[in-house]
Amino acid sequence: MDILRACDDDNLFRRWFRHPESWAAWRAFLAVLFALPLDDEQAALFRRHTGRESPPATPSSEAWLVVGRRGGKSFVMALVAVYLACFRSYRQHLQPGERATILVIAADRRQTRVILRYVRGMLTNIPMLRRKIASETAEAFDLDNSVTIEVGTASHRSTRGYTFAAVLCDEIAFWRTDDSAEPDYAILDAIRPGMSTIPGSVLICASSPYARRGALWDAYRRHWGQDGGPLVWRASTREMNPSLPRSVVDAAVARDPASAAAEYMAEFRADMELLLTREAVAGCVDGPHERAPTPGRDYVAFVDPSGGSADSMTLAVAHLEDDDAVLDAIREVRPPFSPEAVVRQFADLLAAYGVRRVTGDRYGGEFPRELFRRHGVTYATSERTRSDLYLSLVPAVNSGRVRLLRSDRLEAQLVGLERRTSRAGRDIVDHAPGGHDDVANAAAGALVLAADSVRRGADVEASTFHIGYGPPPACPRSVRGWHRGPGRSAVTGELVDYRAALPAPAKRRPA
Ligand SMILES: Nc1ncnc2c1ncn2[C@@H]1O[C@H](COP(=O)(O)OP(=O)(O)O)[C@@H](O)[C@H]1O
Ligand SMILES: [Mg+2]
Repeated sequence: MDILRACDDDNLFRRWFRHPESWAAWRAFLAVLFALPLDDEQAALFRRHTGRESPPATPSSEAWLVVGRRGGKSFVMALVAVYLACFRSYRQHLQPGERATILVIAADRRQTRVILRYVRGMLTNIPMLRRKIASETAEAFDLDNSVTIEVGTASHRSTRGYTFAAVLCDEIAFWRTDDSAEPDYAILDAIRPGMSTIPGSVLICASSPYARRGALWDAYRRHWGQDGGPLVWRASTREMNPSLPRSVVDAAVARDPASAAAEYMAEFRADMELLLTREAVAGCVDGPHERAPTPGRDYVAFVDPSGGSADSMTLAVAHLEDDDAVLDAIREVRPPFSPEAVVRQFADLLAAYGVRRVTGDRYGGEFPRELFRRHGVTYATSERTRSDLYLSLVPAVNSGRVRLLRSDRLEAQLVGLERRTSRAGRDIVDHAPGGHDDVANAAAGALVLAADSVRRGADVEASTFHIGYGPPPACPRSVRGWHRGPGRSAVTGELVDYRAALPAPAKRRPA
């Protein structure tokens, strides 16, 4: 029984396709995926959406769908999962007691529930399929043919040790995890070995597009329009799902054209790029998890307050040392929590570093000021926005003048920061959709504050004088003070006037 006949069968999936006209594009995709014969209209759809001339002669083992939001991706993934689970036999490839898993990976819990609802709907409403259910758990259906359909999120998931008949990745451009900056590649790498024992096992990745990076973009860039290799199908929402009212798309375009072009027209965004490279960030990690306070040293601290229900509350402590901004401690308390208790905890840490003033953004409202005051700590409002803090950090990180701590979460959050260039001229930096940046925010705040202390102290930027005297490492610290007049801050790259702070320049001949 091929999948299209199953979709037309009154005793099978027919009731999910009440208006067959609206499913023409999906039927064409499925026909191509399973190498079923195509009619002329389907062949034209194939050419249009894959940029290829002739459809593959054999079923695809890897397919990528770049399709707009509400285009039917999750539903079709569920359909394919149920079809592959119920109408294929894998026993001949399994050891006794082994199960073939069909895994659907969604971007978050909510999406998992959407897909489970689709899967459960098909399995339980079709009597012939319901009989196959051996057991059901919150996230999986065991069928009586040694096949398990499992649905989970991209985070905290070990995908090793499975034998996969199929892996279906939903909204892969939006996968985020706390501990990996590139969960899409990491999870695909972990999955592939598990797909090798069952011949004909398939990997299907579907997503609305986002930025021009990651596994989805790679697959699209390398394989769309290329004969042979993975099947890449790109289509707007309404091309796949004409039942979506045009007004929904129009309203989205009016709200935010760049975002709507990605969400509904399936165009990868050109206005989003990562703020920092993984290499640059990794190059700044030199520390342990925390540096103990050194008596006599001046520390600064930055806090990212939260009310305790939705976001983490974070704190970072830093200092300036030999022109480098050095991160000393980071704390994150994840919700739910009592802000009062967290502030008490944070105040203890600040006391250990001799810090009596903490800076945070102005959106925190009155409560952090109030709570910190009770512990004798002044809460100052940051002069810079979060975007400004991140933008200030870029040149410093890129030139290795920042010393971070060892923290996967901090690294992943820094690497996950995106810069959206806007035609209005001001770049905006934020975490990617579904991501977080509370730890990165506090760390960036403290590091930039530490760098700013150069203004108040008498420190001088090495990179300014090194132009005439060789690379910075070769410069003895004693030549600090050569530089006169405004220069760039060693850490933030900003223009700073050092004149007031400097001793009279010593005479020294260029080498
Ligand atoms: N071609 C289509 N014709 C009719 N309804 C469709 C079509 N494609 C999707 N739908 C319906 O649109 C809704 C959204 O589908 P879904 O699979 O959740 O979209 P996506 O995952 O792409 O955002 C579902 O109710 C689905 O049944
Ligand atoms: Mg979906």
